[in-house]
Amino acid sequence: MDQFLITGSSRIAGEVTISGAKNAALPLLAAMILAETPTTLHNVPSLQDVTTLIKLIGGMGIRIQKQDDTVTCDTKNIDNFYAPYDLVKTMRASILVLGPLLARFGEAEVSLPGGCAIGSRPVDQHLKAFEAMGAEISVENGYVKAHAPKGGKLIGCNFSFDMVTVGGTENVIMAAALAKGTTVLGNCALEPEVVDLADMLVAMGAKISGIGTATMIIEGVERLYGCEYSVVPDRIETGSYLAGALMTRGDVLAKNTSALLLIPVLEKFEAMGAMITTGEDWIRAQMTERPNPVDIRTQPHPGFPTDMQAQLMAISCLADGTSTFIENIFENRFMHVPELNRLGASIKIDGHTAVVRGVECFTAAPVMATDLRASMSLVMAAAAAEGESLIDRIYHIDRGYEDVENKLRALGVNIERINSND
Ligand code: UD1
Repeated sequence: MDQFLITGSSRIAGEVTISGAKNAALPLLAAMILAETPTTLHNVPSLQDVTTLIKLIGGMGIRIQKQDDTVTCDTKNIDNFYAPYDLVKTMRASILVLGPLLARFGEAEVSLPGGCAIGSRPVDQHLKAFEAMGAEISVENGYVKAHAPKGGKLIGCNFSFDMVTVGGTENVIMAAALAKGTTVLGNCALEPEVVDLADMLVAMGAKISGIGTATMIIEGVERLYGCEYSVVPDRIETGSYLAGALMTRGDVLAKNTSALLLIPVLEKFEAMGAMITTGEDWIRAQMTERPNPVDIRTQPHPGFPTDMQAQLMAISCLADGTSTFIENIFENRFMHVPELNRLGASIKIDGHTAVVRGVECFTAAPVMATDLRASMSLVMAAAAAEGESLIDRIYHIDRGYEDVENKLRALGVNIERINSND
């Protein structure tokens, strides 16, 4: 199993080019199943999760391949509508193939994603919406078996989500795009990745209004066609590298990104004392002082994103004062806390709240990556700490950060990938 050996204390400074967003690329890849003619997707990051989804879609007989950052897909020879447990268990977003398969072919059998490290994360809202569209759903032996009503088409309906769900909104708009009649969806997620998916569906011939608002109206069409589309930049990757500047009195210029995607995060960076400057496709964060403390509550977009909570917490560990973090999206998303404490932080958890008392500096230690975004907070903290830190279980990072070592090295981080079996 790979590990990172990081020798601090670095000043994180330099330029980094941001990749396409993992959380947009995954639904866009699933949406390719809907098209009757070939689709081409650009700016697709090279990540473990992308490889997994391509393998899952390829396993259905669909011709799909990735070369550099471009994926091409031709669904002509699809011969099964099955997503096996072996692949789905490694990535919850696999459930996103359910909507497209059900809408276009009238049937699907997809393994339940099950729990994951940051909480139980059910898919009840996805299934409830498909049932409202007339689908017959059963869960047998860990698989969701879904059938469209007689005639093989889902039927448009009025449905409002019980809570804001990114994946749920994505799955259901894909299904509604090919349903018979009009679907009015309430309490939709507003995340930029949902907007990116809706925009691609429109480019494929879907009729959707209210994109980027809580109510989307989708008028089902007979067929969707391939298109050429480019994935939106990764706002979480952007924020993660900028966070490095705040932790190390550094200076990071993130290119090929957009400040409009991460307004709530940039506001907090400024509150912590960073100087933020932006252009059309770049953001620069400069930090000269010890960070100020902050108070953060994670919320659905346009609130503060849960996927940036761990990175901001790592910055606040070095703040001049006490910060609080309230996690409202996931039930178990403070697993990085004991690891940051191993690096010398002073954090206490009380239910959904973490209280961080700022310390002067981190101290090197062996730590364990616990989930995708938490891993990045540990990498940055280790880069700031004096001495050598060994980070275990970095497969989490490989799931979501493209070319991470090279990007970090270009920013001045002394990082080496080692294999624990060597
Ligand atoms: C997506 C992102 C993830 C991000 C999250 C919240 C992808 C691939 N992943 O995950 O990085 O952290 O949005 O911004 O895009 N819920 C239910 N029932 C459901 C669906 C969700 O109870 O049917 C709950 C979840 O357990 C969670 C909350 O709703 O507590 C939000 O989940 P959701 O927005 O669906 O997250 P994902 O789409 O899985």
